[in-house]
Amino acid sequence: MKVSDLRGILQYVPRFREKIFVVALDGEIVASPNFSNILLDLAVLRSLSIKVILVHGAAMQITQLAAERNVAISNADGTGLTDEQTLKLGIEAATNVMNEIMQGLTSVDLRAAYANAIIAHPAGILGGVDQLHTGRVERVDTKSLHLFLNEGITPVVPPMGFDGEGRTFRVNSDGVALEVAEAMQAMKIIYLSASEGLWVNGEVVGQLSIAEAEDFAKKKRGAGLDPGLLSKLDHAARACRQGVARVHLLNGLRDEALLSEIFSHEGIGTMIYSNEYQQIRRVFKKDVRGVMALIRQSVNSEELVKRTRADIMAHLEDYWVMEIDRTLVGCVALHLYPEQQMAELACLYVNKHHEGEGYGRKLMAFAEQLAAEKGMKQIFALSTQAFNFFQQKGGYSEATPDALPSERRKKYDASARNSKVMIKPAAQTVALETSRA
Ligand SMILES: CC(C)(COP(=O)(O)OP(=O)(O)OC[C@H]1O[C@@H](n2cnc3c(N)ncnc32)[C@H](O)[C@@H]1OP(=O)(O)O)[C@@H](O)C(=O)NCCC(=O)NCCS
Repeated sequence: MKVSDLRGILQYVPRFREKIFVVALDGEIVASPNFSNILLDLAVLRSLSIKVILVHGAAMQITQLAAERNVAISNADGTGLTDEQTLKLGIEAATNVMNEIMQGLTSVDLRAAYANAIIAHPAGILGGVDQLHTGRVERVDTKSLHLFLNEGITPVVPPMGFDGEGRTFRVNSDGVALEVAEAMQAMKIIYLSASEGLWVNGEVVGQLSIAEAEDFAKKKRGAGLDPGLLSKLDHAARACRQGVARVHLLNGLRDEALLSEIFSHEGIGTMIYSNEYQQIRRVFKKDVRGVMALIRQSVNSEELVKRTRADIMAHLEDYWVMEIDRTLVGCVALHLYPEQQMAELACLYVNKHHEGEGYGRKLMAFAEQLAAEKGMKQIFALSTQAFNFFQQKGGYSEATPDALPSERRKKYDASARNSKVMIKPAAQTVALETSRA
């Protein structure tokens, strides 16, 4: 390892200290030869004062037990109904997996405890079929999980839940990880399965926003994506919607997967992320009409420059909209001038009904961060009526048109709008999408 690698790792440490990570292991991973490496990685996380909660599945072990005993099971992974026989095998399989995890954690000097933290109720009758012993998480006993964590003990949560009368229910471990993460306000969920993250055209998809993850899941449902991975993708998007900042889908059969994902900028698996800009998304072809309608009034009053449909279509990837409850409430565009390392923030607009609710500032900050992420050093805006907004709310300074990139300067002169040139350095630190932290 190079010293620079270590430096790279250390930059994440303060951000992660005392934060909760939920690591969800498929049963297959616990049984794999790579499990011993994962245990070492978990010990590293612990030594960096990261609070880890382990959640495990047992689908592979249930299937194996059923085959050994020649018993038919109703469903292996806790997503379908659980009959009496399957529950019995499920309890046995989960106990075995738990035991293996406990042994492993002890071997790397980590103190651990079985956490009976899932309070469940019957999943009930779905589509007319009684799910019998399949449960749904009602609540997570956060108090006991915190007690363990505060004592430096790693809680291990099985895919089982219990109701007030002591009845046992089988629950899906992806769902358990989601519920535990939400209830414990975890920073991350890391799903370790035997799949290699999400692939498109032979390349692993490094990161997806919530909307992109939902879109991906919708397109891939029934189109050949491994159902286990699809379930993780669904749960990842839901977890992000419910406040978990980052969910990682990793191949747990790969050596060093956990550390490479967490402590490198690019990671190796697929990360689904939420951020404070999650209502902001790219403009698609189908939105162009809506964007034009949105800005029409502002164009008429000369606040914004007139754009034709063809103008927007020609630079569609530059345009972003803010969408709330499926309604477009604002937009912004970012045009890049890579040679000068400058970006233009343009077409900033917030619907009159939503003015003064902070959306204008949010769109402005979003564009600035995007510009920084694209490696731009400065960002500028040309404004006829909102220059005070840029100055007072965004910290922009007025410059002369000479500050503009030459090709932009030509258009500026040709337009005769005499807009004020507002400029500032692009945000330097926070990355919008690429940071694994
Ligand atoms: C400018 C604009 C984007 C602000 O959107 P917004 O969602 O209302 O902004 P925010 O809610 O984040 O901020 C509101 C604050 O900015 C101030 N503000 C809004 N428009 C302003 C303007 N034109 N000049 C100066 N200050 C302005 C408000 O008074 C308010 O101040 P306060 O927080 O001290 O009360 C919106 O008014 C708009 O779409 N204007 C027309 C289009 C335009 O001129 N775009 C810029 C050209 S690129």
